[in-house]
Amino acid sequence: MKTTKLVMLVMTIAVGLFILIPNLSWAADDGASLYKAKCAACHGADAAGKPAAKIPSLVSDDAKKASDADLAKDITEKPKHPATIKSLTPDQAKMIVTYVRSLQK
Ligand code: HEC
Repeated sequence: MKTTKLVMLVMTIAVGLFILIPNLSWAADDGASLYKAKCAACHGADAAGKPAAKIPSLVSDDAKKASDADLAKDITEKPKHPATIKSLTPDQAKMIVTYVRSLQK
């Protein structure tokens, strides 16, 4: 009887880990994926913006000069940014800024 309980416990933990591990993956939470999912629709995959729609370029000289902190603040505080973007965590905003920097080169 005791062994059965132990086996059940081990099985439960194994199943639990099996469900948890894919969710712990950071793959969907890196700057590039976040940018593609949350920003590309407006600012474009190349971050050049859409002048006709008054969406600023993120690879302009001004954007290059802006500090990481300013860019991260723009992400979470721009009034025109949808709520889903304003609710990004500071860490996610930082990851996106790092990705935008890579596009600026
Ligand atoms: C719904 C369209 C939309 C989405 C989605 C969007 N933006 Fe914007 N963004 C804008 C508009 C419009 C502005 C300029 C208007 C303003 O100043 O509020 C702007 C301004 C900015 C600015 C300031 C640039 C400047 O020169 O003033 C930054 C940086 C920025 N966005 C980054 C991002 C990032 C990074 C994401 C993804 C997390 C994102 N945006 C998602 C529409 C969008």
